[in-house]
Amino acid sequence: MKITWLGHSAFLAQGAGATVLIDPFFTGNPLFLESFLQQISSVDAIILTHGHGDHLGDAVALAGKFKAKIFALFEVCAYLGTKGVTHCEPMNIGGTVAINDRVSVSLVNAVHSASVVEDGKIIYLGQAAGAVLMSDEGCLYHAGDTDVFSDMALIQRIYKPDVALLPIGGRFTMSPQTAALACNDFLDVKTAIPMHYGTFPIIGNAPQEFVNLLDKAEGVILAPGESFSFGVAFSTKKP
Ligand code: NI
Ligand code: MN
Repeated sequence: MKITWLGHSAFLAQGAGATVLIDPFFTGNPLFLESFLQQISSVDAIILTHGHGDHLGDAVALAGKFKAKIFALFEVCAYLGTKGVTHCEPMNIGGTVAINDRVSVSLVNAVHSASVVEDGKIIYLGQAAGAVLMSDEGCLYHAGDTDVFSDMALIQRIYKPDVALLPIGGRFTMSPQTAALACNDFLDVKTAIPMHYGTFPIIGNAPQEFVNLLDKAEGVILAPGESFSFGVAFSTKKP
């Protein structure tokens, strides 16, 4: 599986016959470059961890452009339905849905909130979640926005992810210190990749601090647009 960081919590995951976007926040994301999108010719699925603007992002427009199906919490799907999205797979935490016969997505716990503000009114969009992308080419845990919680050990036990994408910017999510704690005490991944940092001045920007605090996991800092491959290389196996 090959993953490409598109800035903030946005990733492109390619492998096992599927091209998947996670939390595609492009418009208004200072780390996103238009050239990233020009390299994407097809998208099969868009996974949304929770209903905050910096995660819902451009999902509506991208789902239309690529005729991609959105996978999200029930409330997020219901909300997107009011925005004209017709192909949304409603799910909830603990549930797993197939993207194709080799790739599935599971939503898992996160300690966070979810809402949008419209016409000065707050609309709550259910829980916040993390997402696990499971395939025969590797398993990816995208933690969404969350604090550290000890049940990350359960996520590890159930899904055995190879790679964890962890928010480290503080203020709204874990910091480098608590994300390293998550990795060292509750997860057992080979590789940990920081996200949700450096996007805006109000969140932190210290990925090296996170990497320095890791005990076992290899920390990989991606530049926006940079890729990391793990498991069975996606290019060597075509369905
Ligand atoms: Ni959030
Ligand atoms: Mn966020």
